[in-house]
Parts: sequence; C-alpha cells; structure tokens
Amino acid sequence: MTSKFITLEGMDGAGKSTHIANIISALEARGHEVVSTREPGGTVLGERLRELLLHEPMHAETETLLMFAARREHIAQVIQPALASGAYVLSDRFTDATYAYQAGAKGVEIDKIRTLETWVQGALQPDVTLLFDVPVEVSMQRLLQAREPDKFERENAEFFTKIRQMYLQRAAENPTRFRVIDANQPLEMVSQSVLAVISTL
Ligand code: TYD
Repeated sequence: MTSKFITLEGMDGAGKSTHIANIISALEARGHEVVSTREPGGTVLGERLRELLLHEPMHAETETLLMFAARREHIAQVIQPALASGAYVLSDRFTDATYAYQAGAKGVEIDKIRTLETWVQGALQPDVTLLFDVPVEVSMQRLLQAREPDKFERENAEFFTKIRQMYLQRAAENPTRFRVIDANQPLEMVSQSVLAVISTL
C-alpha cells in the first residue's frame, strides 16, 4: 500500500486552494485514491470548531488548543483511517499553519506547540508539504479582491510577514518534506510547478 500524507500551506491569499482540484485529478490519474480534507475542519466537530476559530476573538493559546482539538478528531476520524486504507490524504493546511499563525504571528511559545504536536500526532507527519509562497504585498492585494474576510484575513502586513517568515523557516528546517512553490507567477506557471512536484511523488 502506497499511502501518502500531503499538506498544502501558505499565507491567506497565496492561492493554494485554487490548485486543489488539479492536484486531486493528477493523483487520481496516477491511480491513487484521494481523500481531500482541510484544517481547521475535516470532521463534523472540526467544522464547528472552525466556525469559532475563524470568527470569534479569543486568546492565542485558546486558539492553539482548539486547533489541536480539531486536529485530534481529524486524525482519528479521517487521516489515519484513510492512510491505513492505502489512500493519499491531501489536507488544505495542517500543523505547520499552527507554527506559522499561532507561534510566528501571535507569539505562542513554540515549545507549547511542540508538546501538543507530539501529544496529538505521535509520529504522524506529512510526507510532503507544498508551501505556496508569495510576497506579503501580493497576498494582501489578493485578499482585498476576495470575498468577506475572516478574522485572520483582516490582519495587517506585520502579521503576514511573520507568518511568511515562520513558514520559510520551517521549510528550511525540513528540506526533505517541504516543496516551496513560487506562487507569485501567472496561474498557469504555478500550476505547472505544482504538477511537477506531484509527478515526483
Ligand atoms: P484558509 O485555509 O485560508 O481557508 P479559506 O481559503 O477558506 O479562507 O483559512 C483557515 C484559516 O485558519 C487561515 O487564516 C489560517 C488559520 N489557521 C491557523 O491560524 N492555525 C492553524 O493551525 C490552521 C490549520 C489554520
């Protein structure tokens, strides 16, 4: 069985969601069963927590704990069963987002996140993480054109700069897992970069 756990990451407005359908098609064309999911969310309870997380103001540590609560449920109900059945799991965000947003941008201590990561995930880590990277001005410009922004999308340039720095730091620390996609290119070229990564899996 050739299961794989693939995650997509990047700042709001980096454009990762645009590529999900293409990634699923490319993997299915290669004969894989694909389970596509997202965080926060992915389960009935997780989607209810997502509503709170995206719209209710709360302490950054409360936010961190709720992200991991949703993640625990997601792993138990969706990710582990799918991987055990031999499927490819494609998750729109996972724990790197907690490092980037709650630690990088909101100042939660990294050690606390590491403790929760070990508790909730054990040895589970993504096999591959595609990081959609764009300059902060570009992501903010894209967000301005988007629909009604959520709590995170209303933040300022300093917040997004910290997110981008933490993502790039994590990519540098985990070079075999991360594939950094330059998402500041025409859509067609970003798609080609994404498909090139998928073809190497
Ligand atoms: P996002 O994935 O961008 O969905 P959409 O495209 O529908 O806006 O939204 C999820 C938000 O949650 C995003 O702003 C990042 C944030 N988030 C965290 O702050 N920490 C986390 O651990 C996760 C998974 C997401």
